[in-house]
Amino acid sequence: MMTQDEMKQATARAAIEYVPAGIIGVGTGSTANFFIDALADIKGRIDAAVASSVATADRLKKVGIRVIDLNEAGEMEVYVDGADEITQHMAMIKGGGGALTREKIVAACAKKFVCIIDQTKLVDVMGKFPLPVEVIPMARSYNVILDVHGMSILDPVAMETEINQIVGVVTVGLFARRGADVCLMGTQEGVQTFKR
Ligand code: A5P
Repeated sequence: MMTQDEMKQATARAAIEYVPAGIIGVGTGSTANFFIDALADIKGRIDAAVASSVATADRLKKVGIRVIDLNEAGEMEVYVDGADEITQHMAMIKGGGGALTREKIVAACAKKFVCIIDQTKLVDVMGKFPLPVEVIPMARSYNVILDVHGMSILDPVAMETEINQIVGVVTVGLFARRGADVCLMGTQEGVQTFKR
């Protein structure tokens, strides 16, 4: 019996196959951390990484991978990140790690989104995991991430668009209009691959 961490590690290792020479975008969370560990073994192949959070930047630097800013990188071939929930149509809820806006921007600048998950993340209908929505509170100088509970997201693309239209919303943690292109899922039977 594989543990959840072993499934995450297996999917993270499988993602190495999608790492091009050059610059890679790296996400945030425990599965992304396993990916950084795997990247360390092949670091000669990549020039630099763009990190979706401060925690990821620190971890990349610690294993000896150069971290550059998104502005310096421009467009990237691949962004590798986990998800909080994903459907078989490759729509995701993300941002549970608190890096929502930065994550969404880095993902948008990548040609290909490779999602790395263990089997517990695959759902028929998203919404059990609280949907993060980053908003600008009036008269405060910092941004706040609201967690919206009790959702049943039947049309993720429409919901993403609608929430993005609300005044004061910075970003929503639905990645549906631009979902994953490839999903590598760690299961008890090995890593399964889904493609768009
Ligand atoms: C980070 O903000 C999220 O989008 C992560 O992708 C998500 O929380 C996955 O984390 P784990 O890999 O730790 O489950």
